[in-house]
Amino acid sequence: MKLILGIETSCDETAAAVVTANGEIASNVVASQAELHTAFGGVVPEIASRRHLELVNPVIQQALREAGATLDDVGTVAVTAYPGLIGALLVGVSAAKALAWARRLPLVPVNHLHGHVASLYLKPLDLEPPFTCLLASGGHTMLLDVQERGGYRALGTTLDDAAGEAFDKGARLLGLGYPGGREIDELAKQGDPAAFDFPVARVPGLDFSFSGLKTALLYAVRDLSPQELAARRPDLAASYQRAIVRALVERVEAVDAKRVAVVGGVAANSELRVALPQAALAPLPLCTDNAAMIASAARYAEALPYPDYLSLDARATAG
Ligand code: KG4
Ligand code: ZN
Repeated sequence: MKLILGIETSCDETAAAVVTANGEIASNVVASQAELHTAFGGVVPEIASRRHLELVNPVIQQALREAGATLDDVGTVAVTAYPGLIGALLVGVSAAKALAWARRLPLVPVNHLHGHVASLYLKPLDLEPPFTCLLASGGHTMLLDVQERGGYRALGTTLDDAAGEAFDKGARLLGLGYPGGREIDELAKQGDPAAFDFPVARVPGLDFSFSGLKTALLYAVRDLSPQELAARRPDLAASYQRAIVRALVERVEAVDAKRVAVVGGVAANSELRVALPQAALAPLPLCTDNAAMIASAARYAEALPYPDYLSLDARATAG
């Protein structure tokens, strides 16, 4: 049985994975560039593209090696084609096209968001639709109605910042590193979530809004002296995290779904995972960006036959 080689370079993770046709992960390699961007408090697109270029081939080779496979075993190449940083996406798409073309293989262009949902279709979880899916990442926060593995329908989305972006911007205000979600998650464990009363935005329907919360944190930080800030940082982190988690959980509960699943980088948040005990949670290594989820999505998306994909282009937007 031929293998699927997945490639993901939409943001600041250079990733490659080998997945079997029935959804077993044979390897899942992620090279994070976080330390390159941390001095800037966020991803610098040009730096990300350049680093992807250096890493993409070694990461693909490592994924094949760890799977005990060679290109002879690969039947399909899958790559994130949209949405993301355009220069970053182009590196993965070009690598995928070159590989597929050289081996006369079909290529599957994958929607990164579909990839996050498809992290649930890998073994051993292997979740079957229908379910309502909360997708919370650095770039997106959406509620999705998933009726089949090939796609989804958006029920709600963020009107401003994504939940992960709120974590990252909050971390920056608190003087923590990038990416901020894990830093706040860790620091919040030593803090009191009731110490500060941060607002949960109530917008109509099933949409989200996080920009007001970020402003509330900014004001709280500004009101403190440097010494006070140092002492209260864990309380601020815990209260801020509580507000984000409450906003996400409230929206999920508003749908009254029979089954709920949570995917994306923010799905790694320890408080969110505890707050939704009934939900199917993407396994931790599959929450943040990876290529196994891209290979997984490719099993339910249309493949472009050789050599039709030579004109394939990456796209920054989801639409
Ligand atoms: O899915 P992902 O890797 O990339 C995008 O598609 O955007 O998500 C990255 C986001 C970042 O904003 C990061 O701060 C957040 O996920 N994140 C977390 C945690 N781990 C990563 N947020 C909250 N708690 C965490 N433990
Ligand atoms: Zn992502």
